[in-house]
Amino acid sequence: MNRRTTRTTVRTAAAVIALATGLALSGCSSDSKDAGSDKPELKVSGAFMPQPAMDMAGAFLDIKNESGTADKLLSVTSPLSDDVTIHETKNQKMQEVKSFDIPAKGELNLERGGNHIMFMGIKQKPKQGDEVEIELHFEKSDPIKVTVPVEAPNHNPKKQ
Ligand code: CU
Repeated sequence: MNRRTTRTTVRTAAAVIALATGLALSGCSSDSKDAGSDKPELKVSGAFMPQPAMDMAGAFLDIKNESGTADKLLSVTSPLSDDVTIHETKNQKMQEVKSFDIPAKGELNLERGGNHIMFMGIKQKPKQGDEVEIELHFEKSDPIKVTVPVEAPNHNPKKQ
């Protein structure tokens, strides 16, 4: 029930404004049009890749969704590897998933020991201080290019 409150509140506020400015309420049709054009607004931050030791690597980042529309991270591409997948970690085992939810007015957090981006068969081993280009692909939003700094192998900003 609480999850639905946000949108209801927005609509109520819109109705109040419409009334206050003396505009006639035109009913549901204009409401649903507004909802349809509410494209997710995603902001990526905190991206990093621990310097890989083998021919596989992981990357972590946060995606903030400031809009009222949920989205999904579907895939990641990178010149570093032709085999990039998204993984979750359950009972200390990682497994590939089809997508990660990015909730409306919420955040998707990829972090060590949890959800992550997985690069297999990397074409070269980047070193601390290097940067890796990746592109995130979403269900609704346009793709976002991210420059991922390579950090020390044990780098973990969430544990400081
Ligand atoms: Cu993995």
